[in-house]
Amino acid sequence: MQKKCIILASGNGSNALNLIHEFHTQGKAAFDKINISAVVANVENAPVIDKVRLAAPDIPVFFLPYASVSERECFENELENIIRKYSINYIILAGFMKILSKEFVSKFPYKIINIHPSLLPAFKGRDAIKKAFEYGVKYTGVTVHYVTPEIDAGPIIYQEVVKIEEYDTAESLETKIHKTEHKIYPVALEKILGAN
Ligand code: GRF
Repeated sequence: MQKKCIILASGNGSNALNLIHEFHTQGKAAFDKINISAVVANVENAPVIDKVRLAAPDIPVFFLPYASVSERECFENELENIIRKYSINYIILAGFMKILSKEFVSKFPYKIINIHPSLLPAFKGRDAIKKAFEYGVKYTGVTVHYVTPEIDAGPIIYQEVVKIEEYDTAESLETKIHKTEHKIYPVALEKILGAN
C-alpha cells in the first residue's frame, strides 16, 4: 500500500527538499510506496515554501500560522483537516520548530516521525549541534525517531554517528550534520514506510 506523507517544516527546508527530491522528483521505482502528498509551513515567509513550490509545483503547500502557543489549537485543527482531506498516513517533521500538543501527538501513535541533529538521548531540544560542539563531545550524530508527547524522547528508528574532528568548527560540524541528515532521512523513511 502506498503511504501518503505530509511534511511539516518551519525554515530553510533542506530536509523537506531532499525528501521531495528522493521520493517525488526522482521518481525511483523503489520509492513508489512513499508519496509526498502535501507540505505545511507554520512561518509565513519561510524559504521552504517557495523552494517546494519551485521544485515540485504539483505538491500542495499550505501556510498555517503557528508562532505562539495561542495559535497551536487552530494550527492543529487545520492540519487535521488537511490530513483527512489528503488521506495522510504519516506526518514527517523536517525542521518543524514548534511543539505539537500531547493531544495531537496521541492521536497519531507511530505515525509522526522527526529528525534530530544529535545522537539522542543526548542534546535534546533546540541548538543541538551547537550544544554538542560546545560540550566538546568527540562524536555526535543524527537521529530519526517517532514523535511521542515527551519531546525528543520517542522510539529511535535510525541513527548515524558524526565524528567531531580537532579541526571542526561549529559551522563545519553543522555542514556535516546536514549532509548526514540528507543521507539518512530517506533511508530511515524507506525502512519504515516501505516495509509493508
Ligand atoms: C535540521 O537540522 C533538523 O535536524 C532539525 O532542524 C533542521 C532543519 O533544517 N530538526 P532544514 O530546514 O531541513 O534545512
